[in-house]
Order: sequence, then C-alpha cells, then structure tokens
Amino acid sequence: MSSASFKRTLVTSALPYANGEIHLGHLAGAYLPADIYVRYLRLRGEEVLYICGSDEYGVPITLTAERVGISPKELVDRNYASIKKSFEGFGMSFDNFSQTSREVHTQTAQAFFTDLHDQGVFIQKTTEQFYSSSQKRFLADRYIEGTCPKCGNEEARGDQCEECGSTHDPTELIDPRSVLDNSPLELRETTHWFLPLGDWQEKLKDFLGRHPEWKDNVLRYCHGWFADGLLDRAMTRDLGWGVPVPLPDHEGKVMFVWFEAPIGYISATIEWAAENGKPEAWRTWWQSPDTRLVHFIGKDNIFFHALLFPAILMAHSEDYIVPDNVPANEFLNLEGQKLSTSRGFAVWLPDYLEKFSPDPLRYTLARNLPESRDMNFTWEVFLARNNGELGNNFGNLINRIFTFIHKYFGGRVPEWSEEMMTDLDRDALEEVATDLEKWAGHMEKFEIKAALETCFHAGNVGNTYFTDSAPFLSRKTDMERCGHSLGVTIQILRQLCMMLAPVVPFGMEKLWGWLGMESDLWVGGWQEGNRNIPSGRQLGKQEILFPKLEQEAIQVEIDRLQEMLGK
Ligand code: 2FM
Ligand code: ZN
Repeated sequence: MSSASFKRTLVTSALPYANGEIHLGHLAGAYLPADIYVRYLRLRGEEVLYICGSDEYGVPITLTAERVGISPKELVDRNYASIKKSFEGFGMSFDNFSQTSREVHTQTAQAFFTDLHDQGVFIQKTTEQFYSSSQKRFLADRYIEGTCPKCGNEEARGDQCEECGSTHDPTELIDPRSVLDNSPLELRETTHWFLPLGDWQEKLKDFLGRHPEWKDNVLRYCHGWFADGLLDRAMTRDLGWGVPVPLPDHEGKVMFVWFEAPIGYISATIEWAAENGKPEAWRTWWQSPDTRLVHFIGKDNIFFHALLFPAILMAHSEDYIVPDNVPANEFLNLEGQKLSTSRGFAVWLPDYLEKFSPDPLRYTLARNLPESRDMNFTWEVFLARNNGELGNNFGNLINRIFTFIHKYFGGRVPEWSEEMMTDLDRDALEEVATDLEKWAGHMEKFEIKAALETCFHAGNVGNTYFTDSAPFLSRKTDMERCGHSLGVTIQILRQLCMMLAPVVPFGMEKLWGWLGMESDLWVGGWQEGNRNIPSGRQLGKQEILFPKLEQEAIQVEIDRLQEMLGK
C-alpha cells in the first residue's frame, strides 16, 4: 500500500532492556530518530501514536538482581523509573511508555501464545541442554565455558573459541562449566515449543519483496538470512523470570524474550487505549489495514523486527498489520572507539542531563546519525555544533532579529509588503520555502540527517539575507526599508522554527511562542507555520536559546573517557 492510502501512523522504538541506563548509542539508534519523525508527523497534523516501554525479562536481569540483592521485579521497576525520567528529560514524546512486567503484557503475550499454539503453529521438540545443579537452572550458551575440543584452550566460550576462532555446539566442549559460579554442568533433556520459521520463509520473502524502499542495510541482512534458510526457533525457555507459558504442565517454562517483547508494543497500545477511556481503540492501531506501522531499531534488532515479529503477527488467527517500514540504524562509536557498557565506556543520559540541556545533544546526534554506516560522537564536535551551529547560526540570528524589533519597533512585526519586495528579499524567501519543501521530503523518507542539512542551509540563507539586507544600516537612513527587511526575516524564522522543531523541541517551542503563533506546534502547527506572520503582531521577549559552552565543560568528559582508554 502506498503511504498515501494510510490514515494514521503507529511508531515504535525498540523497548530498552531495564537492566541499566540509556546511553548515547541507544539514543542515536532507536530513539532520537523516531522522536524526530513522530514530531514531524505531529507538526504536519497527522494522526500518530508513539509507543515504547521497557523490556524487563531475561537472564541478564535476574543476574543483576541477584548481584544487587533485590528481586528482579524491584530491579526493573527501579530501572524503569530512571529510564522513563531520563527519556522525559531528553524530550522523548512517547504516548505511552510501559513495562513488559505488567499484567496487561502478561495477558496479551499469553493470548498470543495460546492463539498460535491452538492453531498448531508451534512444534514441540525435546533436546539436551546444559543444566547447572548448583544454580538449579538451564544455562544459555553465553553462560557456558569449557575446554575447546579443537585446540585445548580451557576458556572457550559456549559457542566459540576465541583462541583458535572455531565455532562449536556447547555440547562439544570438554569439562563444560558455568561462567557464573564455575560449577560443572550436566546435560539434561528438556522440551520446548519451536516456531518453524522456515515455513514462513516464502511469505516473509514476499512481504519484503513488497518493500524495495526499505533501507539497504535491512534488506541486505534479511536476504542473508533467507540465503542461509530460516530455522526452527525455540519460543520457550526454562527460567523463573519471564511470561509464564499458558499451558497445563508447563511449570518453570516461560516465553523466549524475543517472542513476547515485541508483543509489548501491542500491550502498551492496549494500556494506552484503556487509560484514555477507549479500551477497543488499540484495534484501530493494530488491526486496521489503513494504519502504517513503523519500527525504529538498532541494527542488532533487525532479525526480530523484520522477520520474527512479522511472522508471529501473520500467524495470529486475527488480522494484524505488519510493519510498513523498519528503519534500522547502524551503531554510534564514542571518541573513535566502540561503546562498551560493561567497561563503562559510554556517555549515560542521566549524567549528561545533570550537566547539559537536551537540545544540544539532540542536535549533535541528529547531525551525526548512523543512518547508513557507523558514526562517531566526540565531545569536541558536540562543542563545535553547540557553539558554532546552534549558537552562532541559529541562536544569534533569532536573537539579533528579536532584539532589533524590540528596540526599534516596539516588539511588533514591522510593516513589510509585496510592493517593497526586492530581488534580494524574494530570492531569500523562495530559497527558504524550497528548503522547507525539501526538508519535508527527506523527513518522509526517514532521511533525518539530510533533512537537518537542508535546515542548516536555510539557516545560512537567513543569515546571509540579514547581512545583505542590512537593517542595521538602513535603520539610520530608511526606517521603512529597515522594517520591511525585518518583516521578511521574521517569515524566514517562522519556517526555520518548523524545520528545527522536531530536533530541538525545547528551544523551538519557545520560539513558536515568541512568534505569537496561536496553534499548538505539535497539533498541526504546519498550517499556521505556512502562513505569513502579519505586520503589527506583538512578538514575545526572547532569551538566549542556545547558550555557549566553554571548553572546560567538556574537558572533564573527555578526560574521563581518555583515562578509561589508558591514554
Ligand atoms: O535490544 C534491545 O535493547 C531489546 N531490549 C529490544 C527489544 S525490542 C522489542 F521487540 F521489544
Ligand atoms: Zn580453540
């Protein structure tokens, strides 16, 4: 279906694990681009719902909880609250940010599982897996180590030996033991429900075939998996912390996180609908073919969103929509190195927000998004973007124009008119209007970096126009001309404000107000934003939108990271 035939858009961002804080890598991958896109749609007056929540099951969470000495539920609730708070501080505009450990999710995921089970979609298989009697649990590959059957390295990982590079099945390891407490492991039989993904391969291929417009990286990965052939995937696990499998005699069995977590998008929508007093409204978002579903994710989630979850949605006996696009981003490096959360080599959002405001980070990340390849974040670039681009290019322009109008025109938009237009005025206005159109075109295609470049260009047009039309000179000789030029720059600001708003919403909401706009920027502000601001309108009193930062402010951050790198 072409996007013109859709009536509304449901946007999701990958549910972050409630096992720690959000860092810059997360933001650049699944969150900031989605929030920018959602804000763009709201500005355009589109019907949009933005859903997220935290992903709260799985082994790593139980291990952290054990280490901290609290229950997994206490841990995820704590982390949920903190993640939610930092997302709010960063300006993420979710309509609902839920949790997968809530009752609504248990019910939704269980109903999904039952539906697929009752239709005979799953197959049951008994396999042998490693069991730790000391910990009373089956262990996943990454918690198993032993002696490499090929080279004798005593610390080979469950599925691979880092010494000789060979891969193996964990059962081939000699003296297998638990990474967690070094205890020996025994093989035990266990029975699980598998999704025979191979049965869905042709359908999934057709589905992807209808989306040649998807990003190359996503299509490339998927075709790679098709070439290998999709395998049966276990949808259940032997664990205590997860959504219980809703079948008799399944004590101790929970759902595989990647089966239930994406269903979390649906649960969060159901919760949102109920909270808004329209309990059935979720169906419009998930079961109406005129809803467009878009999943924003990082590249490590492609398999689950482009193949596994669509297969689950297709398998359900009711008609669910499948994603219309899965814009996946590559990774963000930090100061030229890979981020490492285990080593603490990252910039954590709560730390950032304690010292700086959100807009400069949103702007810097948006300028540098890893849309088609891995990108790098450095504090020096952050400083340069804040001071040079936000401060000088945009902030100064806004400040100069407002100061001028308040000082010489009583804060009212001066007389400007068609009769007074020169080529200089006309060219500047046309160029900015063209940029605005191009900007929207990029946004529609998730080309956020390109959109921002267009906006940056429009900022330059505004600055050049201000210099060339020189109201600071005409003020002394021709007050009418001076006023006219300022009236023109106000129109440029109005358009710049829309282009910048999804990226730096905190600053642009203020500017929108100072410009005396009446509509809500995020409820179709586009309409009013595309109309001229008339002469005579009283403008608000401006303040500095993007204060300059000093080198010292970022030097602390640079030093901390360099120290970790041993430099
Ligand atoms: O990679 C991650 O952070 C996962 N927690 C994403 C889950 S997305 C969705 F399917 F829940
Ligand atoms: Zn080896």
